[in-house]
Amino acid sequence: MHMQNNVLILDFGSQYTQLIARRVRELNIYCEIHPFNKSIKNIDNYKAVILSGSPFSVRAEDAPHPDLSKIKTKKPLLGVCYGAQYLSHHYGGKVEPSNIREYGRANLSEISENELLFEGIENGSQVWMSHSDTITKLPENGVRLASTKDVTNAAYRIQGEDTYAIQFHPEVYHTTYGKNMLENFLVKIAKIEQTWTPAAFVDTTVAELKEKLGNDKVILGLSGGVDSTVAAVLLHKAIGKNLYCIFVNNGLLRKNEFQNVLDQYEDMGLNVKGVDSSNRFLDALKGIVDPELKRKAIGRVFIEVFDDEAHLVEDVHWLAQGTIYPDVIESVSATGGPSATIKSHHNVGGLPDFMKLKVVEPLRMIFKDEVRRVGAQMGIATDLLGRHPFPGPGLGIRILGAITAEKVKVLQEVDAIFIDGLKKWNLYNQVWQAGAMLLPVNSVGVMGDERTYEKVVALRAVESTDGMTADWVNLPYKFLQETSNLIINRVKGVNRVVYDISSKPPATIEWE
Ligand code: XMP
Repeated sequence: MHMQNNVLILDFGSQYTQLIARRVRELNIYCEIHPFNKSIKNIDNYKAVILSGSPFSVRAEDAPHPDLSKIKTKKPLLGVCYGAQYLSHHYGGKVEPSNIREYGRANLSEISENELLFEGIENGSQVWMSHSDTITKLPENGVRLASTKDVTNAAYRIQGEDTYAIQFHPEVYHTTYGKNMLENFLVKIAKIEQTWTPAAFVDTTVAELKEKLGNDKVILGLSGGVDSTVAAVLLHKAIGKNLYCIFVNNGLLRKNEFQNVLDQYEDMGLNVKGVDSSNRFLDALKGIVDPELKRKAIGRVFIEVFDDEAHLVEDVHWLAQGTIYPDVIESVSATGGPSATIKSHHNVGGLPDFMKLKVVEPLRMIFKDEVRRVGAQMGIATDLLGRHPFPGPGLGIRILGAITAEKVKVLQEVDAIFIDGLKKWNLYNQVWQAGAMLLPVNSVGVMGDERTYEKVVALRAVESTDGMTADWVNLPYKFLQETSNLIINRVKGVNRVVYDISSKPPATIEWE
């Protein structure tokens, strides 16, 4: 796929590998991440190779030792951090434990003049270091390109080759000119054209889908989220009415969500069927308190409902999914060997046997921010594309303890006041995800002269980039005050509102 401008990123297990890929893609250059210990097919299709960082020391026996004989001297090659050390260690240089461990900010000095890699980059500019070994001797034919106060060999190249190495991390935001260095490497040195744009992605993907699917019918479960929506619109462009979308109401969606989103899908011209199975889900959840059992019950009923609906579409061969790249990248574990860390949340491998359909995943090679750009390119409304993530089990995992229809109603009202307020105060887009939790405790209050004994709700708003780590948002007190008043005055059964000020880790975003 998209081979004409392909960059290979060999992953040695660094936490920043995906960031390298995102920076490269931001330069409108397509790239793929592959684990170092899997053999790479069609190496000729790649225009350049980047070696990632790693939690390993090159001096450790079990450290990654890839065979670069098909790459080095044959393709433009950039080693980053571990990658830079590896290119020294194995080719005549020396890597030793550093006296001063360098983590965090450093400043470039002694940048060599007239070097393509550093074109436009100033002495003194900030870079981000994260390493405990240091390159004490350059490899054969190594030419130093830059230093920092504590690291003499902060960057080098190999004379007579397009091989470059940098000790710091160009992919992180804190390296001021990091993206420029990547651009210099990919565009000036490797001479790759910057043609990977959302429009190009839409064109090639639609063409590929047309070819792959022909006149076949495809079913797709819409969730109201960004990924399934963008996947549906791409498929719709390719195969029109042969895409059968199913949007299931599990009874645990936000207030009015089912109807509003269904209307939006219909306005987009999608062939969509809304299926209200609220009661079926609520019946299956009756009395279940354990969060994982709730997830299982919701997942099981979803598959049953979806399967019933799928059987109504005759002669269907394909199931489409909104799987995105972070869900399919094979990760390299710090204990060696490849490990597929598959998040139980996501749908990878979630195809039930009895459905026996082939899977089509138009977004499986792109990141979330790219999904949004592709969606915008196809004219999907910004409010749909900018929606906060919402968990598949919905309010089911925000009602702590057993779920009832009454509790769902209460939480929907609370959640709607909170979310509408965020929008009204222009805070919605500053927050990565927000929602309310209905706690399984009653607290005492007074309303008028009456003593009340009613439910407590917790509001949660976090900032994050991918949900893996998150911090609570410092929402204005005035906003919290107004929201709390509105909730307590308008939602019957709630007499206390608290705001969650826990970060992830150690807490999680959801309470269950
Ligand atoms: P946690 O609570 O693990 O949440 O910090 C991280 C992100 O994942 C979402 N989440 C889920 N999404 N099914 C989903 O589709 C689930 O079971 C599930 N649990 C958590 C959560 O909303 C947040 O965005």
